[in-house]
Amino acid sequence: MLSVVVLISGSGSNLRALLEATEDPRMPIRILAVGSDNAATGLEHAELFGIPTFVVSPGAFASREEWAKMLLENIKFWNPDLVVLAGFMRILPPEFVAALSPNLINTHPSLLPKYPGAHAVRDALADGAAVTGVTIHVVDEGVDTGPHIAQAEVAVLPDETEHELHERIKVVERELLIKTVADIAKGRIDLQTLKG
Ligand code: GRF
Repeated sequence: MLSVVVLISGSGSNLRALLEATEDPRMPIRILAVGSDNAATGLEHAELFGIPTFVVSPGAFASREEWAKMLLENIKFWNPDLVVLAGFMRILPPEFVAALSPNLINTHPSLLPKYPGAHAVRDALADGAAVTGVTIHVVDEGVDTGPHIAQAEVAVLPDETEHELHERIKVVERELLIKTVADIAKGRIDLQTLKG
């Protein structure tokens, strides 16, 4: 059984998909806790599934390093095998990454290395991309630069808005995230060999 802590910042639809997937007894994944940097609406999914939550908000700390230290302490309390950033919109300092790497993965709505950063879908549209998608990767010290674990393509439709495209990407993203975490749990993906 792979034990997981998930970090989110927003609506948590990826988290919800993971929680639903763990209801299948054949899925060797256990979500121990869900954390956030704010009182994210997505935390409600965890509460619905009876999973403990924690919020560590940067505003309560003098520096990003102090904040990240407290976030790490909260995660370590659960001693998970894997930490999944599922729409967690904060950059984590190197000490945090080093403490968890390579068992720290992120999902990003583009075909990295294209369109890293917080506006990947907007950037793909602005660039006139015909195809974009999703990347699940090991987190390293850069922004969306770590070794890729899995990718899936999504074609951009004519006249699509950022919201519409992002929602279609998220449908693919949720499936890929579940499959990737399941593959890690089943030993089909070895994160040690992907360490950057
Ligand atoms: C996802 O597309 C994630 O990759 C991006 O933000 C979105 C979060 O969606 N960084 P949700 O909160 O899981 O619904």
